[in-house]
Amino acid sequence: MPERPSRFDPASVRESWDFAADAYADGQASGNDHYRYAFFGPAQVHLCGEVAGTRVLDVGCGNGYFAREMARRGAKVTGIDISPRMIEHARRIEAAEPLGIDYEVLDAAGLAARFPAGAFDLVTSCVSIPDMPDVPAVLRGIQTVLRPGGRLVASITHPCTDTPVRAWETDEAGAKLSLKIDRYFERGPIEFTWKRNWPYVFKTAYWHVPLETWFDWILGAGFVLHALREPCPTEEGVAAHPDLADAARVPYFLMFDLIRP
Ligand SMILES: C[S@@+](CC[C@H](N)C(=O)[O-])C[C@H]1O[C@@H](n2cnc3c(N)ncnc32)[C@H](O)[C@@H]1O
Repeated sequence: MPERPSRFDPASVRESWDFAADAYADGQASGNDHYRYAFFGPAQVHLCGEVAGTRVLDVGCGNGYFAREMARRGAKVTGIDISPRMIEHARRIEAAEPLGIDYEVLDAAGLAARFPAGAFDLVTSCVSIPDMPDVPAVLRGIQTVLRPGGRLVASITHPCTDTPVRAWETDEAGAKLSLKIDRYFERGPIEFTWKRNWPYVFKTAYWHVPLETWFDWILGAGFVLHALREPCPTEEGVAAHPDLADAARVPYFLMFDLIRP
């Protein structure tokens, strides 16, 4: 049964990600997150295309993973996150490896009040938007701060497989047979417990809504769909990192490439 969070508002999100931030930073620094480093991260970077010389805003930047990917490719990057502790980590990493990234603590629902209209060529968001309590307000704000013709390139966990009920069915030997999913059409926040590969256990909340609701939110904010991607690891990727095999069977991530008309 899905766990429902007792609260899902800016204060509760800030608190839970502040608590998670040290474990999240240590877990990323370990390099063991093959999903991020060998799969969905490179796929999202690829979808962004050429970014040298562009003004990029990374929304829900965490400790700066995707902001750094953009800055290393020559973009002028600003990263914002609601969690002060996440931004402390991002600034610590920036001090150790300067890439010219500006970080600030900000609720993404307040983008339009913070940045001038049309201030950015590209907005990115790496697996963060579902964690934001007011997704329609965030998307409208991103529209405002993008220049006309600018893009939002965002990744989310795939709503068709990241359902309230989800489990791999296995045979007696433990081999995965198929992914059991249920309650896809339920709309609402889910509380996720991060247990595996992290220095300590933490919980965060995120939206599960059906795909059609994502499109209602995206089109309702005024974006035009330029491309939709369901990344799949390559055979070589799975050979190098066998834990990626699950994601070569069913879609784990969904990426939107959206244009502000
Ligand atoms: C799953 S983490 C991803 C972080 C980073 N993009 C990465 O790839 O490592 C989600 C992030 O979204 C941030 N977040 C959640 N709600 C937010 C909001 N309303 N405004 C800004 N950031 C938010 C959290 O603090 C957290 O750092």
